[in-house]
Amino acid sequence: MQYDTVYTGNFYRDGKYERLSLGIRDGKIARIARSFTGERTVELSGAVFPGGIDSHVHFRDPGETEKEDFSTGTASAIYGGTTTVFDMPNNLVPIRDYEAYERKLSIVRGKSYADFGLYSLYMPGNGPLIHEESSSLKIFLGGSTNTVGVKDLGHKDRIFLNEFSKPVVFHAEDEECLRSSASEPRNLREHNLSRPERCEWKALETVRDLAINKPVAAHVSSTPPDFQFGNIVQEVTPHHLLLNDSMELGPWGKVNPPLRDRTTQESLLSSFLDGRFYMISSDHAPHTEGDKQDFEHGKSGIIGVETRLPIMLGLLSKGILPVEVYVRMTCQNPARLFELNKGRIDTGYDADFYAVDLKQVRRINQNRLHSKVTFTPFDGFEAVFPQHVVLGGNQVIENGEMIDDHFGKYIPFANKRKKDETE
Ligand code: DOR
Ligand code: ZN
Repeated sequence: MQYDTVYTGNFYRDGKYERLSLGIRDGKIARIARSFTGERTVELSGAVFPGGIDSHVHFRDPGETEKEDFSTGTASAIYGGTTTVFDMPNNLVPIRDYEAYERKLSIVRGKSYADFGLYSLYMPGNGPLIHEESSSLKIFLGGSTNTVGVKDLGHKDRIFLNEFSKPVVFHAEDEECLRSSASEPRNLREHNLSRPERCEWKALETVRDLAINKPVAAHVSSTPPDFQFGNIVQEVTPHHLLLNDSMELGPWGKVNPPLRDRTTQESLLSSFLDGRFYMISSDHAPHTEGDKQDFEHGKSGIIGVETRLPIMLGLLSKGILPVEVYVRMTCQNPARLFELNKGRIDTGYDADFYAVDLKQVRRINQNRLHSKVTFTPFDGFEAVFPQHVVLGGNQVIENGEMIDDHFGKYIPFANKRKKDETE
């Protein structure tokens, strides 16, 4: 049988590392066996994991490409081992109807280095305008960059959301609560107090009470005591797991929801290490130096698409993060949520993976990242970066450098309504 490429290496598969050969055809894994070669055989040194899936990035294209654009954002993703991204709709002109979605797609389509899907922004009543290929919907229950918080979701909204067969992702901070505690924060501690945990908890109650089909609570930064999440999928971010409001990070640590106090952060981290969340996403939210000049007026958002996996691999290499939790949170569960043939090393799955040498721990140097604006509060953190990255069967990174500007695929979703399916 002919393969486009055969990759050999130490693959993490079904809970263990195995020395395997993978025959790739048309971007997919066509055969897996102990050892075989093809006309073109590539040995991947190190441990090989399924490509990362980042369900939450803000690449700002179109509208604010001085902060990021789809090429720089997706190149960063690839350098960090993330081969699939889902891009948020809070562009300068929000993606909340068919035309805006089509326009965005036509702009970003030819320049994505990673496979990608696009969100649409849900506002009360705009259900019928939503593009059916949207990977998911985003609802801001509290205002943040380029958005205002949604206060009332009525009966018709609930019906639409419940029938929407893809994930509905909530920015879970309650708008009214935010307004009642708003202040002009001068530091991380004050920012935390100006958007307190109770606003997050109130929004989580709203999400639970909506009782919809596939709800996701984005970037959970604190969890209400004794709260039953039910079917709510919980996403966490590296910054809420590892940073807190007592660190001297200035405006580059300003983010919504805010970094919490050390106790809350440490308890979030320990739940994560125990595998109690569903997935980890970066919430990559770039801003310019001008946007971050002073704390009070500085915009909220931290970059992270390139460092998400390397930081977690740093924890893995030290034996802090169990490998099965790592794989579940970074690719397997996001693939399940979005119903993708990804996130596993198996026949029929997309040939997306990366190889790392877990002994090569190094400190993050923000000057070496590939975003347009590379300031990060994770500068100096220990991390392990991928040496080789394969996307759709093509090796795109070799020894840490991009060798092929192969472009990723757009992932269109067919959002069948539940009622259509039963017709
Ligand atoms: O800090 C944040 N930045 N939180 C958000 O919800 C939006 C994001 C952005 O787009 O800048
Ligand atoms: Zn976000």
